[in-house]
Amino acid sequence: MKLLVVGGGGREHAVIKKLKENKEVEKIFALPGNGGIAADAECVPIGAKEIDKIVSFAVDHRIDYAIVTPDDPLVLGCVNALEDAGIPCFGPRAEAAIIEGSKAFSKNLMKKYGIPTAAFEVFGSPEEALAYIRTVRFPTVIKADGLALGKGVIIAQDLPEAEAAVKSIMQDKAFGSSGDRIVVEEFLTGPEVSVLAFTDGETVKPMVSSMDHKRIGDGDQGLNTGGMGTIAPNPFYTKDVADRCMKDIFLPTIKAMKTEGRTFKGCLYFGLMITPDGPKVIEYNCRFGDPETQVVLPLLESDLLTVMMATTNGRLKDTDVRFKDGCACCVIMASQGYPVKYDKGFEIHIPQELRPNVYVAGAALDHDRLLTSGGRVLGVTMVRKTLREAVDASYAAVSKISFQNAYYRHDIGKRALSKKES
Ligand code: AMP
Ligand code: GLY
Repeated sequence: MKLLVVGGGGREHAVIKKLKENKEVEKIFALPGNGGIAADAECVPIGAKEIDKIVSFAVDHRIDYAIVTPDDPLVLGCVNALEDAGIPCFGPRAEAAIIEGSKAFSKNLMKKYGIPTAAFEVFGSPEEALAYIRTVRFPTVIKADGLALGKGVIIAQDLPEAEAAVKSIMQDKAFGSSGDRIVVEEFLTGPEVSVLAFTDGETVKPMVSSMDHKRIGDGDQGLNTGGMGTIAPNPFYTKDVADRCMKDIFLPTIKAMKTEGRTFKGCLYFGLMITPDGPKVIEYNCRFGDPETQVVLPLLESDLLTVMMATTNGRLKDTDVRFKDGCACCVIMASQGYPVKYDKGFEIHIPQELRPNVYVAGAALDHDRLLTSGGRVLGVTMVRKTLREAVDASYAAVSKISFQNAYYRHDIGKRALSKKES
C-alpha cells in the first residue's frame, strides 16, 4: 500500500514509524515531513495547509490511504477534499473537526448534551466581555474561540490581567480571526489527563492515557508550549475515573456529534481535568496530541494501519485496539529560547543505537547533516516495565544526544512518579 501522511512534526514521525511496522506498507510520503522524518518516509515539499496540492499529489501518486494529523488541514477540510477525490482518509471531516476549531462550538455542544465541563460564557464583542469579567471570580480563564497554536488560553489572576487578555485577543487580534469570539470560563483545579481515542463515529476505543507537561520550565513554571514531554499511562487516570469518562464523556460526545450531523471519525483527543467533582473536559482536539502520540503509539500492540482503516470503514467495534503493559516517557529537546525566540541551524548528533527512539519535530537536512530548524527539535521516548525506569532511560538517552543551545525540562514524569509512589 502507498500511504500519505500530512504534517511534519514529532507526532507525524511517531505515526510514520508505527505505520511502517505493517508489512503491507510499501511506501509512505510525508507532506511536508522534516529532515528527521526523511529517514523513514519520502518527504515532499507541500505544506500541510496546501490542500489543493495535497489532493493533486494523492491522485497523481495513486495513494491508497491518507492520514491527516495536524489541526489546521483538518479544520480547513483536507479530509473532505481528499475523500471527494476518491482517496480514503484517516481523520475527521471539517464539519466534525470544528470540535477543536471552535471552542464556542465545543462548549455549547457540552452544555446541550450535559457533558461535564467548566461553566462558561461566549462573547462576540469586547464591550460585553469586559462588562462580564467585572462580575467573575478570579482566577478566570479566557480563551480565543479558534485555533491559536496552543497559545490562545490565558489564566487571568485578576481584573487587569483579564482586561489585558480580552483586549489582546479581541481588539489587537493577537490570534487573528480566531479571536473574533472569546470564551470566558470557570477556573478548574486538579491533575490533567490526555486521552486519545479512536472512533468510527459509533464505537469509541480509548488509547492508553497520558500526561503532557505544557509549561516551558521545571516545576510547571513559565510560558505554555506545545508540550515539553509526556508519560503514559497517567497514574491519575484510575479504573474508576476511566469508567466515569467512558459513560459521562466519551460515549456522550460521540453520540452528540452524530446527532448534530457531524459524525466524528479518526482520533478524538479528550483533554481532561480530574476535579474534586469528577472528570471534566478542558478541551477537545480533533487529532492525535503532540507529544502524547510519542508515548501512546510506542505502547500500541495492535497494528496501527488496521485500526486507522477501521475508523474509516466503520469496523472499529470488531477491531482489536490493544496496548502493551509497561510505561513510556518522552522528553522533548527544544531550542534554547523556545517558545519565544531561538536560533537554529545547529547540527544534531544522535547515536545510531538511539535512532529508533527519536521522533524528530524540527530539523532540516543539509546533505547528510541534520540541523535544528524549529523550537521543539526532537523527542526521545523509552518504554520500560516501570515509569521510573522509563524516565531514567529517557534522560540517559537525552544526555547522549547533542546540539548547540539544546534545552529540556528535567522533571518530566516527576508528578506522576510522586503519585505512584505516594
Ligand atoms: P487548552 O489549550 O484549552 O488545553 O488550555 C491550555 C491549558 O490551560 C490546559 O492544559 C490547562 O492547564 C489550562 N486550562 C484551560 N482551561 C482551564 C480551566 N477551565 N481551568 C483551569 N485551567 C485551565
Ligand atoms: N499536547 C497537547 C496538544 O497536542 O494539543
